[in-house]
Amino acid sequence: MKDQKSDSLDHAKTGTSRRKFIGGGAAAAAGTALSSVSVATHAHAAGSDSLKVSLVGCGGRGRGASAQHLLNEGTELVAMADIYRHRIDEGYDIITKEVAKKGPGKVKVSEDNKLVGLDAYKEAIEKADTVILTTPPGFRPMMFEYAVEAGKNIFMEKPVATDAKGYRRVMAAAKQADKKGLKVVCGLQRRYQDHYIQAFEEVKSGKIGRITAAQSYWNSGGVWTRPRASMAEFLGREPTEMEYQLYNWYYFNWVCGDHICEQHIHNLDVINWFTGDKPPVKAQGMGGREVRTGPDTGEIFDHHYVEFQYENGVYNNSQCRHQPGCANKVAETLIGTKGRLELSNKGGGMFYDHKGNVTDRVRINDVRNPYEVEHAELVKHIRQNQPVNDAYYTAKSTMTAILGRYATYSGKEVTWEEAAKSQVDLFPDDLAWDADPKLMPDADGNYPVAIPGVSKIF
Ligand SMILES: NC(=O)c1ccc[n+]([C@@H]2O[C@H](COP(=O)([O-])OP(=O)(O)OC[C@H]3O[C@@H](n4cnc5c(N)ncnc54)[C@H](O)[C@@H]3O)[C@@H](O)[C@H]2O)c1
Repeated sequence: MKDQKSDSLDHAKTGTSRRKFIGGGAAAAAGTALSSVSVATHAHAAGSDSLKVSLVGCGGRGRGASAQHLLNEGTELVAMADIYRHRIDEGYDIITKEVAKKGPGKVKVSEDNKLVGLDAYKEAIEKADTVILTTPPGFRPMMFEYAVEAGKNIFMEKPVATDAKGYRRVMAAAKQADKKGLKVVCGLQRRYQDHYIQAFEEVKSGKIGRITAAQSYWNSGGVWTRPRASMAEFLGREPTEMEYQLYNWYYFNWVCGDHICEQHIHNLDVINWFTGDKPPVKAQGMGGREVRTGPDTGEIFDHHYVEFQYENGVYNNSQCRHQPGCANKVAETLIGTKGRLELSNKGGGMFYDHKGNVTDRVRINDVRNPYEVEHAELVKHIRQNQPVNDAYYTAKSTMTAILGRYATYSGKEVTWEEAAKSQVDLFPDDLAWDADPKLMPDADGNYPVAIPGVSKIF
């Protein structure tokens, strides 16, 4: 994800009215009522049947995930959907080159199956056996529901929601997926990473004793911004608020969820996983914005510290920061009665005793790429018709991050129970290029930012 200064916003280049861009191009035909979708016809392509896959959201991750999916024999990419045509074209070229290098899947996306618009996901989903959902996370509940309803197998990226309502929708759709025998794999890749899997087994067998506390970190310099001015320059006019928020999506909670949700979810999920996959019962914390200022940084914080408390009294002290020039750390620590384990994505895992001596290391290197393993597992489970459904734990870890955000934004202690049933719905009432999102800027282009102790979160 990087600043796309020269982004060409093709949906806005035609002479038609903005509202018509919704489902533009071939997606206009996607008004197909869901009831007419042939349900589960392709859910279990067995043996040597070709597995058709569609990509929805053709940005950085979507391109990577598609190429990784196509590493599996008998797979073919048949449709691509995005809100911008140029994203599809760039993605098509990159995926084609990757697949040509590594094979053996095929890229077979006809012009008619390059689908542009806010509704384009529907037609793309309908054309496939398996769908890859890699848009920003605000769209995940709606698209996951649609894919489940249509009877498709699914790979979807984390996070899977940005508010509690989205969390509940994903949990409900996950149950439907099970009823239909659909296979669902999600992009919390540490669960598919060799040294994390090995570390989990060792902790489970008692190597650090009973877990009593945990720490988790995603401290980094931050991510891209996509300024309103660069979009206006291209368009030759001011973008609508919806166009702008979707372009600069990281900074708006309805579509991103704040960086605690968007990135720190990886570390929060590791703690949920290792402590028994039961999410925390409550959270309290602090956070704010120090360096993330000005209109192009929307509403999200640049730091959060949250103390998550689990049912068994275990605390996870979690910190995530997006501030350049500070100490960076992306990692997890689990502290047990016999010692502690320090884990990180790139640094492996080390065991310590309570005096600080290294007692062992996780004795396995990541020979496999976890991003590839995710797709190998999905395809294997489809082929063998074996159950797999990551949506539950991914939704719970998404909701853990949302709980953390509720705690830092409000400055209050927030329980899981009250957070998970919150009726606050961040999604726009009308998803159209010329409709207003719920959060609007003031006359100077600045957005309201939560004030702990003052702002009401539900
Ligand atoms: N697991 C990981 O390590 C990892 C790494 C990077 C990104 N991700 C996740 O992948 C997702 C996408 O991130 P990214 O880096 O690819 O972002 P990105 O901005 O590069 O790509 C998102 C794409 O989705 C498109 N899009 C937006 N709204 C859409 C809609 N309604 N319908 C169709 N297309 C739409 C955008 O135009 C864009 O091309 C995020 O949820 C992110 O958290 C996961």
